[in-house]
Amino acid sequence: MNEKNIKNAFAEKYGDDNVSVYTSPGRINLIGEHTDYNGGFVFPGAIDKGIMAAIKLTGAGKVRAYAIDLNEQAEFGLQEEDIPAQSWAKYIFGICREMIKRGVKVGGFDTAFAGNVPLGAGMSSSAALESTYAFALNELFDGKVDKFELAKAGQATEHNYCGVKCGIMDQFASLFGKEGNLMRLDCRSLEYQYFPFNPKGYRLVLLDTLVKHELASSAYNKRRQSCEAVVAVMQEKYPQVKFLRDATLEMLHEVQNEVSAEDYKRAEYVIEEIARVLAVCEALEKGDYETVGQKMYETHHGMSKLYEVSCEELDFLNDLAKTCHVTGSRVMGGGFGGCTINLVKDECYDAFIRTAKEKYHTQYGKEPKVYEVVISNGARRL
Ligand code: GLA
Repeated sequence: MNEKNIKNAFAEKYGDDNVSVYTSPGRINLIGEHTDYNGGFVFPGAIDKGIMAAIKLTGAGKVRAYAIDLNEQAEFGLQEEDIPAQSWAKYIFGICREMIKRGVKVGGFDTAFAGNVPLGAGMSSSAALESTYAFALNELFDGKVDKFELAKAGQATEHNYCGVKCGIMDQFASLFGKEGNLMRLDCRSLEYQYFPFNPKGYRLVLLDTLVKHELASSAYNKRRQSCEAVVAVMQEKYPQVKFLRDATLEMLHEVQNEVSAEDYKRAEYVIEEIARVLAVCEALEKGDYETVGQKMYETHHGMSKLYEVSCEELDFLNDLAKTCHVTGSRVMGGGFGGCTINLVKDECYDAFIRTAKEKYHTQYGKEPKVYEVVISNGARRL
């Protein structure tokens, strides 16, 4: 995927290469999973893989879109009832609608896009797609929407057109990413801070299980409902609790008999996870990577046993990381498949990757994909 290929593909399809090209990345998240929609902290960074799109305004009332990687086309109008059938086109349509709702005078355009964020691997290919178009349409149609509102337009696209009640982390990371920096976002106040991330002597690597969970979006929405159910019960006693972010483990304990055992476990994980993000930031500032790694393992345990968004293959890779003396390892993103993120000492790296490939292959008949993490810039025009 590069600017030239995208322009060529556009020209072949629409007979023109006088286009604007935009790109926006996927993301990793060091720690703070399923905390965003609970008003907690997340700690993501943008990566060097993303979506790239060529766009040309046409002055017509419709959009023609070409998904280069799938060799599929869609055509749709800009009214609510014009929602296209293809799931990839719903993201672009959703962004058009959400930008219109935010006062941008979106008109017709032709577009072709491609990407290199692995799909369904927990690196937010959909947020990369949304952010690319939100950023581009705002610029091309002279919108006055700020970057946080662009992120919210992406999130609203997921909610209103794609059926996933996601938080703000992925779109935030895709739009605000900065080379060499992780970002700690407080999802309640939307305050954020850049943290230069250059752990000397360590590497950050993703291992993709290649498991794509079919029911991920409905299970995701169910987790969110559990959190909201616990908040609703707590509010009777503690009206100040608007999100699980505002709750403590003691408060949770007090309502134990009024919530289901399942919802209790979910909330326990979230409250602990929010605290872990702060602990990791503190450790990072001291260069204490052992603590960072230990917290990552704790997150994996919580996501597997309490939040129950892991799967056999992810647990397998996590166990393997321990035996290979990997400093920290955990399932990354929404879960139910996708990648583990691993903080590995340089001297353990080769043996870890070799062992993971061998053992995973013996167990599941395929090798996990390996992605080196390169922390990169957010949405931009090329
Ligand atoms: C998905 C969602 C995010 C976030 C993560 C889990 O990536 O899109 O909003 O909730 O899962 O941390």
